[in-house]
Amino acid sequence: MRQKIIMDVDTGIDDSLALLYLLGSPDAEIAGIAATAGNVSAAQVAANNIAWLDVCHAPDIEVALGAADPIAIPLRTTEDTHGPQGVGYAELPASTRLLSPRPAARMWADQARAHPGELVGLCTGPLTNLALALRIEPELPVLLRRLVIMGGAFNHPGNTTPTNEWNVHVDPEAAKEVFDAFAAAPAQRRPIVCALDITETIEMRPSHLVRLAERAKSFPVELVSENDQPEARSAASNPIVRYVTDAVRFYFDFHRSYDQGYLAHMHDPFAAAVALDPTLARTRPATVDVELAGTLTRATTVADWAGMWGREPNADIVIGTDPELFFERLITRVGDFARAVHPPAAQEVR
Ligand code: RIB
Ligand code: CA
Repeated sequence: MRQKIIMDVDTGIDDSLALLYLLGSPDAEIAGIAATAGNVSAAQVAANNIAWLDVCHAPDIEVALGAADPIAIPLRTTEDTHGPQGVGYAELPASTRLLSPRPAARMWADQARAHPGELVGLCTGPLTNLALALRIEPELPVLLRRLVIMGGAFNHPGNTTPTNEWNVHVDPEAAKEVFDAFAAAPAQRRPIVCALDITETIEMRPSHLVRLAERAKSFPVELVSENDQPEARSAASNPIVRYVTDAVRFYFDFHRSYDQGYLAHMHDPFAAAVALDPTLARTRPATVDVELAGTLTRATTVADWAGMWGREPNADIVIGTDPELFFERLITRVGDFARAVHPPAAQEVR
């Protein structure tokens, strides 16, 4: 059975892989994409998504523009992490697809009302537009079939300040509104939270890109390396493989520049895989809240695992997974999809 999914993204290199994962998943039907400001501006996020949809020869999928700024503070973007346009070194051809006439928050509310109990929500960016949607439709926690959030850090260092994670850092007020509201979700449908604790174990390496190119029957199969120059570009015959390679190589360079190794944490496609198949994740319930006032700790997500606050759990936090099983699925789905969309010319089949 195909699952209807609303993606709320801040594309973003790993957000791009989340989109490709869902486009390549026969069990997924993308009902809409909300473009949220975060890694880059909301307008650039929207442009990146319609450009990817063109590269993938995707059908008309609604892409709705989100709010220009977080709900309470000015926007902070991170081009140093995701590249000047948010897709690393990739230079995606601009698309002429039209954006939705309705804003992202309205799309969330309308789609949830139109498909009660059916929609899976996947948030891989700041929670700005989901918070705005909750103000329009407070019943969202019971209207959604499932919500998966990539965000936060619990028993794990932050990636933006010592204790907070980027998506929550950009809009902590929105994150608090979302976690508070989803206390109303039924116990079996608490938001599944993929925090840095687990997503920083999902380490893509150059060998994964080799496997992707081979699966896609793309050539040449390229082994990118830290010695490649920034201006280098992939020559892969398959456009999806080519743009993924150019995007991810920027992410490899970024992680290496922070002494994390020549690798890239695949936060968002992991969350997408969990959204389609929660059995990929081992979870533990907790009450999650977000610090807003701390001088050093603002935007830190705090998990009460033991009920010390006397509040019911409002989240199922992922505490374990099998990274290699995830990569097997990612490479199989995206590789087969890339080959189907851009089949190798007859004489090129290796
Ligand atoms: O902290 C990682 C998250 O922040 C990922 O979703 C990445 O795309 C950025 O949005
Ligand atoms: Ca993201």
